[in-house]
Amino acid sequence: MKKSFNTEEQKTTGHSQWSNRGVFLLVAIGSAVGLGNIWKFPYIVGENGGGAFVLVYLLCIVLVGVPVLIAEIALGKSAQSNPVSAFSNLAVACKANRFWALFGYVGIISGFLILSFYSVVAGWSLEYLRVFIQNDLLGSDARAVEQYFTQLLASPNTLLLWHSVFMLLTVAIAARGVRKGIEKIITWSMPILFVILVILVLYATQLEGFSKAFDYLFVVDFSKLTTDGVLIALGHSFFTLSLGMGAMMVYGSYLQKDTPVVKLSFMIAIADTLVALMAGLAIFPLIFTYGLQSASGPSLLFISLPNALLNLPFGQFFGIAFFFLLLIAALSSAISILEPVLSFVQQKTRLSRRFTAYLIGSIVWLIGISALLAFNNWSDVHLLGERNIFDSLDYVTTNILLPLGGFGISIFAVWVVSKQSSTRKLLGISDSKYPIWRISAGIIAPIVIGVIAWNGLS
Ligand code: PHE
Repeated sequence: MKKSFNTEEQKTTGHSQWSNRGVFLLVAIGSAVGLGNIWKFPYIVGENGGGAFVLVYLLCIVLVGVPVLIAEIALGKSAQSNPVSAFSNLAVACKANRFWALFGYVGIISGFLILSFYSVVAGWSLEYLRVFIQNDLLGSDARAVEQYFTQLLASPNTLLLWHSVFMLLTVAIAARGVRKGIEKIITWSMPILFVILVILVLYATQLEGFSKAFDYLFVVDFSKLTTDGVLIALGHSFFTLSLGMGAMMVYGSYLQKDTPVVKLSFMIAIADTLVALMAGLAIFPLIFTYGLQSASGPSLLFISLPNALLNLPFGQFFGIAFFFLLLIAALSSAISILEPVLSFVQQKTRLSRRFTAYLIGSIVWLIGISALLAFNNWSDVHLLGERNIFDSLDYVTTNILLPLGGFGISIFAVWVVSKQSSTRKLLGISDSKYPIWRISAGIIAPIVIGVIAWNGLS
């Protein structure tokens, strides 16, 4: 049964394909919308002073994110293969050096590293979903809620349990295949995600803290912005659009060759940005209404938010809705973080998709254990400066590897692939849009990445 499906799916192209463009749009949005939008965006806005940071982030999305997104999807679609082969095959077709494939490998490594800590945080969401369903925090005061999270981080076994459950879910879906697994799950889960988010925002508009939250997100005060904040905004624009590691490239490779990519890329970026802003508009009003700190960092969703919910009408219901939303968002992204690695190893080794998925999942799971131990038994282990293992994984991937990958992808797409008219046609960027994309992806994006990275790292 499975075999016949696969052969049918691959009959025309020799490679898996999405059912249609609408499905691609949903899975790509599913990849983009994740913990980055709902957990990370609100807390980094909080840590970096609000409106000015939001503005810089939006500029990064427009100036860097969208052009790189177009490049990434277009490269995948032209090559119809995993990120490493995409780089090397296109390089050969353009008579360029095959060292470009190194950027594919950077993506594969990023995938392993990102998924390992991503799954740990997704595990926290699972625990909080359970907590809200069982109403465990009922009657707790602010200190007790804070202690609950501190205790969670201090217990490796609980963290391990949820990290394992989340990895198992991710791998089980991915193992079923591009259509039967990824496509099927995401086409029903994304609409649910949007509905829940809209309900949460509507609920937040009824609270007295809403207008304060609105000003906090949209009133710009540059005095609060730091150089570090600008690097964080850039790194986050890559992370949130799933750029720089081949996730969008591999999803693009399952598109039909004649699909135009510019409009689709804009739609993905707009949806992703809207979700991040809506998440901010759903979370900050609760925090402000209850008079809590907006700059509480990664614990914003796990201490401040539950505290606010416990004191608001229908808190349990909205708590369940919120953490379920977080779970769906995390799962649809996790699947896409796994996909480049999965398709690469599978195409290289010819092992079955199922076996490969479980094999890679196990390695990611092991790295994830070191990330979760960073909160307890291994809290003294520092990798990068003062950073523990978890923070180091996050920092290296988000602020270094993804921008580096994005840099390579955009330069390669503009200065290598689109130089040759035969391969340029394959990219699927229409003549009218080509000049502006060329300038934005080939000149502006690399310069912005270079300048920000230089300032941020030196
Ligand atoms: N975009 C996802 C998020 O915002 C994370 C992600 C990063 C997914 C890199 C794929 C690749 O949570």
